[in-house]
Amino acid sequence: MSSTTFTEITEPFLRFARSQRPQIDEALERLTHYDGDCPDVLREAIRYSLLAPGKRLRPILVLMAAESCGSDPRRAMPAACAVEMIHAYSLVHDDLPSMDDDRLRRGRPTCHVRYGESLAILVGDALLAQAFEVLSAGITPPARALACCRRLASAAGPCSLVGGQVDDLRASSMAMGPAELERIHRRKTGALFRASLQLGGIVAGASPSEQEALTSYGEHVGLAFQILDDLLDIWGNPTSLGKSAGKDAAQGKPTYPALLGEAASAGRAEQLLAEARGAVDGLKHAERLCALTWYVLQRDH
Ligand code: IPE
Ligand code: IPE
Ligand code: MG
Ligand code: MG
Ligand code: MG
Repeated sequence: MSSTTFTEITEPFLRFARSQRPQIDEALERLTHYDGDCPDVLREAIRYSLLAPGKRLRPILVLMAAESCGSDPRRAMPAACAVEMIHAYSLVHDDLPSMDDDRLRRGRPTCHVRYGESLAILVGDALLAQAFEVLSAGITPPARALACCRRLASAAGPCSLVGGQVDDLRASSMAMGPAELERIHRRKTGALFRASLQLGGIVAGASPSEQEALTSYGEHVGLAFQILDDLLDIWGNPTSLGKSAGKDAAQGKPTYPALLGEAASAGRAEQLLAEARGAVDGLKHAERLCALTWYVLQRDH
């Protein structure tokens, strides 16, 4: 597909992202003033990592999901912020010397490089806790807040994000089959994408069939997103990525291109994204969700 066609086809997503992103950033900004007893250095380090210029893809997905089930996206903003807090915490910890040992993130020195390792661990701890405070205080009615907390806790927990990260680290340089690799990617990255869609649906009071469509879309997009992240580690450069490149192979990481090769990995991502588009056919504003799948495929960071 030519780049002009890609520009056109991604535009419904990009337009939504342009309109919502400033509001997401404002909400995150407001949530990190901490007028209580928070130490200044902790406030500064949290804001340094959370407000850094990431893509905000997961919070945008929360808002898109809510709108696709008929809700005003503003009602889902606390859920969007909570998901971004979990994501930012996972990045700060993922970069630690004892994990991926990365020095660049979102175009800046990583949190532990700037503030030291112990503070970086505590930044992650603080964001993980605050995510659930934000959800429980900001989502109404209480039954929906509870459902959101439960869903997000499960996606961040031992059988999902954290479990995936544990196996990602243990699997370094270990031989494994495609099924085991997919299990890692689905947990370390896919689970939070899936939860982003589900939280938007919960806030909007989605019907079971709407929730099913969002869940399937989130699973497919999430897995494809990590496959493309693996490919960008090979194809990208630190300036556009805002993070290091070429480290997965150097560290013997379990990645799709290492296991299947680059062409087959790209093909698998394309197939997953096509399935994601198929899943949301009947939802409102499906063109935005479809456009996002093309954006994920052609992104360079
Ligand atoms: C990076 O996620 C970590 C992965 C799960 C691959 P993003 O590529 O969404 O990072 P930001 O939020 O834009 O920095
Ligand atoms: C990160 O996967 C997954 C989580 C942070 C949970 P990667 O380790 O591939 O992410 P990057 O490439 O450092 O952003
Ligand atoms: Mg990692
Ligand atoms: Mg990493
Ligand atoms: Mg990566």
